[in-house]
Amino acid sequence: MTGIRSVIRGTGGYLPERVMSNAEISQIVETSDEWIQERTGIRQRHIAADDEMTSDLATHAAQRILKDAGIAAEQVDLIVLATTTPDKTFPATATAVQAKLGMGGGAAFDVQAVCSGFLFALATADSMLKTGLFKTALVIGAETFTRILDWSDRGTCVLFGDGAGGVVLTAETEADAGDRGVLTHHIRTDGTKSDLLHVDGGVSSTGTIGHVRMLGNQVFKHAVTNISSAINAVYDETGLTSDDVDWFVPHQANQRILNGVAKKMKLDESKVISTVGDHGNTSAASIPLALHTAVSDGRIEPGHLVLSEAMGGGFSWGASLFRI
Ligand code: UT7
Repeated sequence: MTGIRSVIRGTGGYLPERVMSNAEISQIVETSDEWIQERTGIRQRHIAADDEMTSDLATHAAQRILKDAGIAAEQVDLIVLATTTPDKTFPATATAVQAKLGMGGGAAFDVQAVCSGFLFALATADSMLKTGLFKTALVIGAETFTRILDWSDRGTCVLFGDGAGGVVLTAETEADAGDRGVLTHHIRTDGTKSDLLHVDGGVSSTGTIGHVRMLGNQVFKHAVTNISSAINAVYDETGLTSDDVDWFVPHQANQRILNGVAKKMKLDESKVISTVGDHGNTSAASIPLALHTAVSDGRIEPGHLVLSEAMGGGFSWGASLFRI
């Protein structure tokens, strides 16, 4: 209760130009448009160009976010970038975005919480703004996730895509913020379940990048349970309920998970923002991409209460409540 609130001042997203349809992926592995759409809701995914890195996607998104907010890059003093697919082992991809934006000072670093990364990054930036350490934060989720896929594994390669999205937050006094801003978060991990969704390589284990491995149906079951418990935690903390929520902006992994959580939490279907059909699971980028879609098409308006959630490798999961 510092008297400071983080207010979302702008949103933005970027999807690479190249689109891969379900029909095209059916020529790579034994699958079908029908199976993919029925089990996941995904129609297509975007694939980064060979010379496009995660920082390029993130920089495009950042430029759009700042334009949307009318905030100059020089005003930003913090970048928290969630990614599982960094440009390099070091330095942080966020520092490449800092350089590309022409933002001289401040600090930029990465957060790694896979598909929950955006919510972890939001919680991190929000906490740092509230302590007074920084004033204006870009919070970005960006992935070239298709680079860690095993293109012979139909259980995973049909699900994921590349993209970037984010928000810019400014630290405001509660008097100036009014009822707007980030209200609360609940973020959690459980390292004992990592075998169900992980990458089988890394710098200090195999010395390789590795590929995504997932026991999808087991992850599915944990997802609905963990996400629901995180949502209940943010409700308990704020006294708000599903009736108060104007829009539900979930992590876009699978339409069936979105529907399952909405049903369990008694969130009306008309409140669910779904973009999974257009870009598949873009990991840390999926929540801000969905948020930006609904803000820019006018569904989410200033004053609306937004509930967001995610679940991913780690396991990591969380929920967040904010008023736009
Ligand atoms: O964002 C990170 C968190 N990740 C998730 O939230 C993903 C959670 N899991 C899922 O979304 C779903 O479990 C999947 C979409 C991955 C799979 O759907 P499912 O309904 O759980 O299918 P399943 O894994 O139980 O597989 C059912 C069948 C299997 O065949 P048999 O053994 O019944 O003959 C699979 O081999 O579907 C088969 N299958 C496929 N068939 C056609 C698996 N992948 C495919 C495919 N095309 N791409």
